[in-house]
Amino acid sequence: PYPAYAQLRTRTPLLYDPHSDTWMVFDYEGVKRVLMDHEAFSSLVAPPSAQTSQWLVFADPPRHAQLRALIMRAFTSRSVAGLEPRIRALAHALLDPHIERGEMDLAADFSVPLPLIVIAEMFGAPIEDQPRFKRWSDVIMALGYTLEGGEAAARVHREFAEVSAEMKAYLHALAGQRRAEPREDLLTRLVEAEVDGARLTEEELLGFFQLLLSAGHETTTNLLNNAVLCLLGHPDALAQLQASPALLPSVIEEVLRYRAPVQAMFRLTRREVSLHGQVIPAGKLVLPMIGAANRDPLKFRDAERFDIHREPNPHIAFGHGIHFCIGAPLSRLEARVALSVLLERLKDFRLASPTPWTPRKALHVHGPTHLPLHFT
Ligand code: HEM
Repeated sequence: PYPAYAQLRTRTPLLYDPHSDTWMVFDYEGVKRVLMDHEAFSSLVAPPSAQTSQWLVFADPPRHAQLRALIMRAFTSRSVAGLEPRIRALAHALLDPHIERGEMDLAADFSVPLPLIVIAEMFGAPIEDQPRFKRWSDVIMALGYTLEGGEAAARVHREFAEVSAEMKAYLHALAGQRRAEPREDLLTRLVEAEVDGARLTEEELLGFFQLLLSAGHETTTNLLNNAVLCLLGHPDALAQLQASPALLPSVIEEVLRYRAPVQAMFRLTRREVSLHGQVIPAGKLVLPMIGAANRDPLKFRDAERFDIHREPNPHIAFGHGIHFCIGAPLSRLEARVALSVLLERLKDFRLASPTPWTPRKALHVHGPTHLPLHFT
């Protein structure tokens, strides 16, 4: 999408698409304004009757602040920092079966399972439940591919309703167990969290669980895959990183900027609002294009260049303002640990065939669907 972004950004940083009746924002300052200004740009994009209206990411103040405070009680930085040894062991275990053969689909065999297992374990789910998590996560992710409606979209919505009922019963039982016998896990902290006498309702708990399975999964998957793609496309950067592994955090930030796993978010204008000299009417869908903002030459020098030494790097891959991603420390940790294991174990890795990309319709995810590698 990047050449198109560049062209559109110069022509008009704010574009109205009459076909979808949406407004797209392509420049850094404009995107930041939309993300920041929750008075004018609402996150209530899910219909109030839909299960997704319970998701933190689709809430506005003051409800957003209450929900976020409750969730942050449970999702602490301490709970994330302790995960490093487990993530390392998991990364090794996922690579082990493929090392001898010298080839693997990095997406399917590594980048997809790793964040999902981390989330499931962090949550406190028994290991035998993990296949169910995968199915649930697939159905939730499919929701994002249904923007254009039609029969396929209707099917996904039916599946989502089924899966929501299943997840609700599952959570009800597991949360009951944790109330009776608290453990050191995210679920226990979520059921115990209390702010000003309020606790998460079962609907809110379900909403957060679903959000974790979508926001906490495919995003990190794409960060891992996109990092490998960036390095394959820039052999000099790969060589520097192999010589100085301490560059890894800065490489990860540049991947987040250069190939943002979440290319766009959704907002709805609460009232008439003017942006870049144009007037957007009330009740319109607005897409702040994060992937385009991250390559705005007015903000980033040599914006189209993948530069692992970029400093500062004020990319907005994790959003901006009150909805800033709560999973940022977790996904940075996962990326740092998983990529260092990968670099250590896969020598001389290269693409085995061209990589198919996720369909353009899924704005929220940006990365290859398969990543077949050969290595020694
Ligand atoms: C919010 C990106 C990983 C949980 C967001 C937002 C972005 C984002 C752009 C802002 C949404 C908005 O403004 O409407 C990413 C990227 C990730 C990642 C690029 C990985 C590379 C994670 C992980 C988790 C997570 C691992 C959880 C384990 C959330 C939640 C929100 C959020 C709960 C909603 C926060 C709120 O509405 O207050 N993320 N995310 N994300 N993210 Fe992430």
